[in-house]
Amino acid sequence: MRTRRSTPLGFQPPAIGEEEVEAVAETLRSGWLTTGPRAALLEDRMAEYLEARHVLAVSSGTAAMHLALLALDVGPGDEVITSPITWPATGNVIEHTGATPVFCDVRDDDLNLDPALVPGLVTERTKAILPVHLAGQPCDLDPIHALGLPVVDDAAHALESRYRDRKLGGLSDATCFSLYATKNVAAGEGGLVATSRDDVAEAVRAMRLTRRGDGSRYDQTTWGFKANLSDVLAAIALVQLDKLDLHAQIRARQFALYDEGTAGLDGIEPLARDPRDTHALHLYVVRIDAERAGATRDDYQRALAEERIATSIHFLPVHRLTWFRERYPSQPALPVAERAGEQVLSLPLSPAHSDDDIADAIDALGRVHARFAP
Ligand SMILES: Cc1ncc(COP(=O)(O)O)c(C=O)c1O
Repeated sequence: MRTRRSTPLGFQPPAIGEEEVEAVAETLRSGWLTTGPRAALLEDRMAEYLEARHVLAVSSGTAAMHLALLALDVGPGDEVITSPITWPATGNVIEHTGATPVFCDVRDDDLNLDPALVPGLVTERTKAILPVHLAGQPCDLDPIHALGLPVVDDAAHALESRYRDRKLGGLSDATCFSLYATKNVAAGEGGLVATSRDDVAEAVRAMRLTRRGDGSRYDQTTWGFKANLSDVLAAIALVQLDKLDLHAQIRARQFALYDEGTAGLDGIEPLARDPRDTHALHLYVVRIDAERAGATRDDYQRALAEERIATSIHFLPVHRLTWFRERYPSQPALPVAERAGEQVLSLPLSPAHSDDDIADAIDALGRVHARFAP
């Protein structure tokens, strides 16, 4: 067994090479600093990749979800059913439209929205459902679509995912992706709305950037946002898209190493991955059962930090975060999500890491487990 690392291991550093550096330099030399030909090319290539009729590039995954909800006319007085096991942005965008988020408990195995619980939350005010594909595992979309309500997906983790045999891009009314610094295509910031609905595409296109006229005349006909994607970031995303398969292969190897390395650690188990689906392998999340593993998730996270292994938490339940708790004091308990929020720990994963780096993380976890486990 190895010893403690001499250098810290980052959680999810971006894998940026000279190709991305060159693409940015070329863009700057071209004179296109804002939305231009590279953003348009990214939309075309992503539409093909995501099997969607339209892809609209925007400034973030958050903006993608916000504009998609507005495109579906979600607004004050409406309710949107969503998962609490997500980044707060998913709840925030519902608030930004003036609607109310209704948090639904998740399934214990993959921590995605439990489709069996959704119908019980539907009221005459329910305007949409916003499922999350956590860590890259698609949630069970068929029973959600069967309810007949508009569906906007938070697919920030799910660029490569397939639900059964279909890419996520055209399955729901709108599917929203993120190009944030840690994502599988990392531009630093950015987002995509994929949709096969012409009306949704047109509405997002109109809202993301108040149209420029001929310089002397302009008009605004709908909500006006500044949510367009710059060509500088689109240039990075295009190179990252070229590297998608290579990076996915590296992460697949890292997943296999983790599966093997955690198999013998009692009380430490990865989230379930459904073999009928394609997982985007975006995050390697384990659950730590304090009784069997001998210590809490927080103890493990601290001990791993002492071993110089950075970890993260995906996610703390959104309805328990201060702002949401104070705003909705009578929010019912969501026992599965709340237990998971205390147990989940994400291990380092990145195409920038070597297999040796991952072996270091596994060895450190083994040492910590040996120290804590009863
Ligand atoms: C599940 C999830 N939803 C939404 C977002 C928001 O995306 P962005 O940071 O691009 O706004 C993120 C992360 O960044 C995320 O992890």
